Amino acid sequence: MLKIAVLASGRGSNLQSIINSIEKASLSAEIRIVVSDNKDAGALDKARKHNIAARFIDPASYGSKSNYEKAIIKVFEEKGIDLVVMAGFMRILGKDFIEYYQGRIMNIHPSLLPSFPGLHAQRQALEYGVKYTGCTVHFADQGMDTGPIILQAVVPIKDNDTEESLASRILGKEHVIYPEAIRLYSENKLQVKGRKVIIKE
Ligand code: GRF
Repeated sequence: MLKIAVLASGRGSNLQSIINSIEKASLSAEIRIVVSDNKDAGALDKARKHNIAARFIDPASYGSKSNYEKAIIKVFEEKGIDLVVMAGFMRILGKDFIEYYQGRIMNIHPSLLPSFPGLHAQRQALEYGVKYTGCTVHFADQGMDTGPIILQAVVPIKDNDTEESLASRILGKEHVIYPEAIRLYSENKLQVKGRKVIIKE
C-alpha cells in the first residue's frame, strides 16, 4: 500500500479530504505521518484525531533550510515514505529535497496554473478579472507552483465573489481532485513525459 507523508502549515482541510477518501476506501493508501512547520497547525490536530503520527518540526531549530529539510527526510525515511503530499505547506522545498523525492512530491494550488502562482491566488484572479479560475494538482519541482500538472478543476467567478467566497468554492474542488490525483498515482496511472502528465485510465 502507498505510504504517504503530508506536509502542511495550516488548517488541513485537504489533509482531511485525503483521510476521508482513505476511510471510505476510495483511496488505497496509508498516511504514515503529517509534518508541520507550524506547531498550531490544524492539520496536526486533524491527524491526531485519526491516530495518524503528527509532528511539528521547528524550522527555527535548524541552522539552514538544507538542515531543516534533511531532518524532514530523515523522519520520512524512518516511515518508508513513497509519496510526499504538500497540502498548504507554506515553504518552497529546496533542491536536495526535490531531488531526493524526484517525481514523488505533489502540491495543490488554488488557481489554474500557470496563472496566478504564489500567495493569494484567489485574490490575484479576482483582481485580474478572469471569468474562470480553479485549482491544480501538480508534481513539485524546484520552482514555485511550476511542476508538471496532474489534474485541474475549473471554478467560474461570480460578479459578487469575495476572496473568501471564491476560496471556499475552489476548496470544494480541491477536496475532490487531490485524493483523485493520489489515487491515480497509487494505481501507477501517471506517466510524466517532460511537462506533460499522461493519465493511463
Ligand atoms: C489550499 O487552498 C491549497 O490550495 C493551498 O493552501 C490551502 C490549504 O488549505 N496550497 P488547507 O490547509 O488544506 O485547508
